[in-house]
Amino acid sequence: MTAELGPVPARALPASARAPGKCILFGEHAVVHGAPALILALDLHTQVVVTRPSAGGAAGPAPVADNPYLAAALTLAGRGPTDLEVRAVSRLPRAAGLGSSAAFVAALSAVLSADAGGLDRPGLAQRAFAVERAAQGVGSPGDTSASVAGGYITVNGPAATGPLLWEVRAGSERWDVRRAPDPGWSWVVAYSGIPRSTAEAVRAVGERLGRPDGPALLQRFADVAARGIAAVAAGDRGATGHLLTENQSLLRDAGVSHPRLEALIEAAAPASEGAKLTGAGCGGSIVALPVPGREVDLMRRLARAGAVPFPVTPAAGAALVEPVFG
Ligand code: MEV
Repeated sequence: MTAELGPVPARALPASARAPGKCILFGEHAVVHGAPALILALDLHTQVVVTRPSAGGAAGPAPVADNPYLAAALTLAGRGPTDLEVRAVSRLPRAAGLGSSAAFVAALSAVLSADAGGLDRPGLAQRAFAVERAAQGVGSPGDTSASVAGGYITVNGPAATGPLLWEVRAGSERWDVRRAPDPGWSWVVAYSGIPRSTAEAVRAVGERLGRPDGPALLQRFADVAARGIAAVAAGDRGATGHLLTENQSLLRDAGVSHPRLEALIEAAAPASEGAKLTGAGCGGSIVALPVPGREVDLMRRLARAGAVPFPVTPAAGAALVEPVFG
């Protein structure tokens, strides 16, 4: 998947862009502290349309004060809070661990960059992360880079994973983002219906990793993610399933699982190779790798257990598109 990695071309407003959500397969939370992660851009999108405000004061968008991501994007683009009308439609549930804010930020940053004369893709990844960081205060560039790159990526993955796409910086922190191979699998994601705050979960795990046994726990996260990246690259479903389960036990130890997520993982077990929470946890969603031929059975089990299941495959990265509404 390389065709989507071109620059964002110049395009004057009105303009629109669409960007995918994401599913973290290995390494959430630990990636914030420098460990590797494997992330899939999934085929549920957010589309943003940006216009100049209409004369006569038609019903406007939500006030900037209600949306810290919108406020940060406008500030970093050098725009005032009332310069533009920004509307978004999304198929991604919010606060569900599926990258809805990253998709919004990536699509909006693409449009604002296009209107400012265009931007190369590493620049878009850096800009989208800067916006998310400014709004959220904590976190890694994993979600925004997945939304900008599309397909499978690693953050802090081994060089053998694939070509370096870009590095993202925030002060003295630095993360490498690489293209990872696509094994051609479908995954199943299931939303528990329990919303959660990414920033709170990230801060809680930061405190957990600050305890005396924190460095050892972080090392176990890093080892599982490195083996998970290798198992997916090798197309080894059995090993990937075991490592998903191992990653989940570390996330449980880090305090970000939830009884509903544990119940969904248990419900998925007979039809999946392995499953874990995905994203910040404390609610949100799980991801499961189906046993081949058992995809429908897996989704039925998850729906019966009270979740909203989606089959997901890789999506292309953020791109300008024709406005769907305006
Ligand atoms: C949230 O989707 C993933 C976390 O690892 C935070 C981050 O990487 O920014 C929990």
